[in-house]
Amino acid sequence: MRALDISIIGATGAVGAELIKLLESSQLPVSRLRLLASRTSLGRQTRFRDEICIVEPLDEIDDTQADIAFFSAGGAVSAKYGPLFAAQGALVIDNSNAFRMNPHVPHLVPQVNPDALAVRLRSGIVANPNCSTIQLVRALIPLVTAFDVHQIILTTYQAASGGGLKGIDELLEGTRSALRGRAPPRAGHFPFPLAFNVIPQVGEIASEGVTLEERKLVQESRKILGLPHLRSTSTCVRVPVINGHSEAVYLGLEEPVPLERIHELLAIELDVLLYADGSHGEYPTPRLLKDPTVVHVGRVRVNPENPCGLWLWIVADNLQVGAALNALLIAKLAISNNIIGGQ
Ligand code: A2P
Repeated sequence: MRALDISIIGATGAVGAELIKLLESSQLPVSRLRLLASRTSLGRQTRFRDEICIVEPLDEIDDTQADIAFFSAGGAVSAKYGPLFAAQGALVIDNSNAFRMNPHVPHLVPQVNPDALAVRLRSGIVANPNCSTIQLVRALIPLVTAFDVHQIILTTYQAASGGGLKGIDELLEGTRSALRGRAPPRAGHFPFPLAFNVIPQVGEIASEGVTLEERKLVQESRKILGLPHLRSTSTCVRVPVINGHSEAVYLGLEEPVPLERIHELLAIELDVLLYADGSHGEYPTPRLLKDPTVVHVGRVRVNPENPCGLWLWIVADNLQVGAALNALLIAKLAISNNIIGGQ
């Protein structure tokens, strides 16, 4: 394949930085890496494969040509610039909420619904799902394929990094203040101080008391799993963890299923790491993840009160599995499908 012209929009952010690292270690040939951000990052430098790349302000560039444009600079930037890059022939891989529910935009987790990429030819844009959705659907796909799952109830425990670098800074700053006995800094990114706290709200409250994040999780997982009528509900909670989202997930099955069968299916799923021996305290926690590139599943157990109920604990690196790595895997899938990178 020929070397690729790649733009990263939001290159100075938490996801952008992960993407640069993953691209650096990938085998993808790159002819040009263009790093784009806001004017405040003008002139910042980043090393990429023995070259120094200088960050350019997005609103000052005069061409939007690229083979691939990765967007991670928020919905407004994606909505404005995504179509401009796509119109110039780029495959736009967008990490924001701007296009996810658009029926002409594939909403893609390569391990789960790779066939959705065919729709890309119409819009030029592929949506990278919400970080909590990606780890959820990757753990659930073998189970919803094998069994009749009629209900999902879940609670997320989401890290500060889901709010970008500003979210991480706010948690660290708040933690330092609390340890020094000072009043918490004014809440900025999160609705309440996050240090030593738990906040049952991620994103704005949309309607009927449901947050945007909770709505995304339900709608996006239905779309990606291809189960439009799945009964599903969630509570999304921000916790004082720097990076790594966790989820407690309850599945309602039509019929009882032996736990061994559930273990078998999870154990063979690609890039899912099963901690099968929950009775000996073996399970994943976000701070101590063994591998940031896989989805970790533990505490798999049948509800003792109801043999049709199943609990799982799902943890993943939200910046990698939940964002940058999924975006890179979408790019690789497009290359292997000859959508980009041909002569
Ligand atoms: P900058 O660092 O120049 O503000 P995070 O999610 O970690 O907060 O990162 C957001 C990313 O999106 C950063 O790279 C940020 O650039 C970029 N960004 C935010 N607003 C704009 C904008 N209007 N145009 C281009 N990039 C933007």
